[in-house]
Amino acid sequence: MAAELAPPSFFESSLPVRAHVHPALNSRYSRTMPKFTHHVFICNNHRLPDDPKVSCNADGSGELQQAFKKALAVRGLSRTIRSNKAGCLDQCEHGPTVVVYPEAVWYGNVTPADVDEIVESHLVGGKPLERLVIADACLNTARCEHKPRRN
Ligand code: FES
Ligand SMILES: [Zn+2]
Repeated sequence: MAAELAPPSFFESSLPVRAHVHPALNSRYSRTMPKFTHHVFICNNHRLPDDPKVSCNADGSGELQQAFKKALAVRGLSRTIRSNKAGCLDQCEHGPTVVVYPEAVWYGNVTPADVDEIVESHLVGGKPLERLVIADACLNTARCEHKPRRN
């Protein structure tokens, strides 16, 4: 017979989502689900050719995300590092765009040829690949040297 689970207390219900999973369920999940060390979000957004904005997945092939998936798989990292297709990450002018969490390191102008280097340097070696990191001044700003001026 399954044990009764008490409803979360007021304190537990005010915690972040992951923290207020009932302790009995938390321990069950921790035994059966792999813990991801990183999530890699790869912009897979595809805009039509007549759209004035650029897009990271311009040819619609999703080649960049596939390259990450393959690079992780050949290193046996797929169970601990997740490569996720993402919609527009609002960094179109810096794209193709990739962001790695939990470090929140943003990469721009990423091509499939860069993927092995990002995986080896950042995800295996713990050192972000500086040459592709988007400058802080370019993030969360309406204007930077790469964004077209809006009058
Ligand atoms: S289309 Fe990739 S960040 Fe916008
Ligand atoms: Zn910029």
